Amino acid sequence: MEFQNRSIISIRDFTREEINHVLNVSQTMEAVADVGTNVLKGKILATLFFEPSTRTRLSFEAAMQKLGGSTIGFNDADTSSTKKGETFVDTIRTVENYADVIALRHNLEGAAVVAKEYSKVPIINSGTGAQEHPTQALIDLYTIQKEKHQIDNLKIAIIGDLRYGRTVHSLARALTNYNVELFLISPEALRIQENILKEIKTKISVTEKQNLEEILPKIDVLYVTRIQRERFPDPAEYAKLKGTYRIDKKMLKTAKKDMIILHPLPRVDEIAPEIDQTPHARYFQQVKNGLHVRMAILSLILGTTK
Ligand code: CP
Repeated sequence: MEFQNRSIISIRDFTREEINHVLNVSQTMEAVADVGTNVLKGKILATLFFEPSTRTRLSFEAAMQKLGGSTIGFNDADTSSTKKGETFVDTIRTVENYADVIALRHNLEGAAVVAKEYSKVPIINSGTGAQEHPTQALIDLYTIQKEKHQIDNLKIAIIGDLRYGRTVHSLARALTNYNVELFLISPEALRIQENILKEIKTKISVTEKQNLEEILPKIDVLYVTRIQRERFPDPAEYAKLKGTYRIDKKMLKTAKKDMIILHPLPRVDEIAPEIDQTPHARYFQQVKNGLHVRMAILSLILGTTK
């Protein structure tokens, strides 16, 4: 298992053993985060975010600082020389001289692959278009493992925008490393792409549904996602689909008492705020876990953590 100087482009590049190792190291980072450390002193993380973010960018920056390293970067490409016409490749070939690792978010699918091709420092795909968000999938798995004490033998439902949801694509692929039963719930127009469905169906049991109600009583983990206005080519199509699902207390009456609800966030209106106070809600613990998982990732890539 080699993590040193390794780029993270797709969750498909991880074996089950490697995922489990990241989850184990993440657990050790919980205590480290409380006091901080200097293991990455002198190392620099560049966060190049060509799309908006709250959790991914800030948790990567916090993780780097907790490990004793420092950060540079931008969260609005219009404040970089991109605005003056600099190419993406030239931006990467510039920043690689200032940083030891680059966390990249981009609206274009394939941006992380291109960056890896040109960069001499590791690239961490921090969300590319509708394609993948592999470190979010590691956070999701860590949260499931922590809350349910296992990933195998669970019944997991993913609901919402399965077509454009990059966190969905990474999580569904990640779950193929485990013995889970997966339910995919979306309106017809937001079904997961056929090629991804085919890929995951060769490895685990997958059932597609348009309604949650029928399967809710048997679900252990409900992973809710936002219907993403910014990914729709046609605003009228978004207007038709927004608000399709809303998880509220009334709806959860038939759910298992210990069913947990996850969400990569941000949410709009797909989970009613009244759910936040119920024992089902785990999405803010998921946010906190993001810090520990990203500390693990940075220390495995840049440090002496094996
Ligand atoms: N989960 C996630 O990627 O959140 P941000 O868009 O705020 O980074």
